[in-house]
This record gives sequence, C-alpha cells and structure tokens, in this order.
Amino acid sequence: MRIDRYLTGLLILAALGPFLMSGSVSAKEYFTIKNGVLERPSGFREWIYVGTPLTPDDMNNGRASFPEFHNVYIDPESWEHWKKTGKFREGAILIKEMAGVGSKAATSGKGYFMGDFIGLEATIKSKREFPGEPGNWAYFSFTTEDHRSVKKTANAQSQANCNGCHETSAQDDFVFTQYYPVLRAGKANPENAVGGK
Ligand code: HEC
Repeated sequence: MRIDRYLTGLLILAALGPFLMSGSVSAKEYFTIKNGVLERPSGFREWIYVGTPLTPDDMNNGRASFPEFHNVYIDPESWEHWKKTGKFREGAILIKEMAGVGSKAATSGKGYFMGDFIGLEATIKSKREFPGEPGNWAYFSFTTEDHRSVKKTANAQSQANCNGCHETSAQDDFVFTQYYPVLRAGKANPENAVGGK
C-alpha cells in the first residue's frame, strides 16, 4: 500500500517536473534558446502587429542604423497580459522585421512605400534566461551584412550595443511604446486594445 502511494507520488512529480521548473503551468513561450543561442523565431507575422517606425536612409546620411521600415510584433500571450495589466510578462518577445523603401511614389502621392524584407531583430524579457541583463531584457540580431538573408541563430548582443539606449529612452520597461499606437491604445485596456466597440 505505502509503496503504491510512493510510486503514485513519484509519477505525479515526474509529470509536473517540467512545469514546476519553468515556474508556470500555462505560460507559453514563443522562442527557443539552446545554450544561450536564440533560434530565429518563426510565425511572427501572425502575432500581434504593434506599429511601424520608419528611419529612411535618405534622412540618415544615406544609411540608417536600422533600415528602414521597422514592423514590430508582440507574441499573442504577452499581448493578452499587456491588455490586462499594462505590463510586459516574463517570457515576452517582440520582433522587429525590417523592410526597405521600395518606391517613393505611388498613385496616392509621393512618400515611402515598402520594398523587400532586409533584416530581423528580437528582444526577449526572461529572468530565467537573462538574470544578469538590465530589466532581464536581451537583444538579438539576425540581420546579415548584405541584407539579403537572415541568420538562423543569434547570440545575445552586448549590453553596450543595445540595452543602454532602450533603458534610457524607451517609454515602457525598455520597449518604445511611444512609437507603437497599438500598444498605447491597449495598455491595461482590453476593449480599446482590439479597436474599441
Ligand atoms: C540609439 C538607440 C538604440 C540602440 C543602440 C538600439 N535600439 Fe532598438 N530601438 C530603438 C528605437 C528608438 C526603437 C523604436 C523605434 C524604431 O524602431 O526606430 C527600437 C526598437 C527596437 C525593437 C522593437 C521592440 C522595442 O523594444 O521597442 C527591437 C527588437 C530592437 N529595437 C532591437 C535592438 C537591438 C537588437 C539592438 C542592438 C543591436 C538595438 N535595438 C539597439 C533605439 C535603439
């Protein structure tokens, strides 16, 4: 009898182990990190789109440091959390996919119109993975020199390269929500978040 109970206990522990270790039973993560290396996330164009900052080359001495359109997405579970709490959850990931200016005139008028994809960056908030990073945010770049392809994996960037500027100038917990109308509208406001009634 006692042996039975002991065995049942062991089985339950074995089944729960991975959840107990990750600290949460339900939180889904949208990234894979192996030995500190981030695999290029996939499927993010179907996450929640939050905004598109634009730094055209021709307004930045011919070469913007992050060219040119920056389409930014947040993973769906972090969006749910943001709508309810106005905070970025443990395990949040934001992606910035860059597209070049393809054309400067359309039938609608002169302007900047998107061309091809030319780069990919990511930021992840995880105490478990990055206990030493400021705010527990780490930054990754999959962009290549020639902007024609993206890397399959990326190492966390040094704090000097990325964290500092985000920490000083971003509006909400290292994230530049001042440039993302979708996040601003939805901050702790579930009804507004989806476009109001
Ligand atoms: C000089 C300041 C500065 C530095 C350095 C910097 N960023 Fe940013 N980053 C910004 C600004 C401003 C935005 C929002 C506007 C934009 O994209 O132009 C942004 C947005 C982002 C976003 C979208 C999510 C968010 O946090 O708003 C990612 C991802 C990102 N940066 C990655 C990186 C990576 C990777 C590095 C290091 C290689 C880096 N950044 C370095 C200023 C900076």
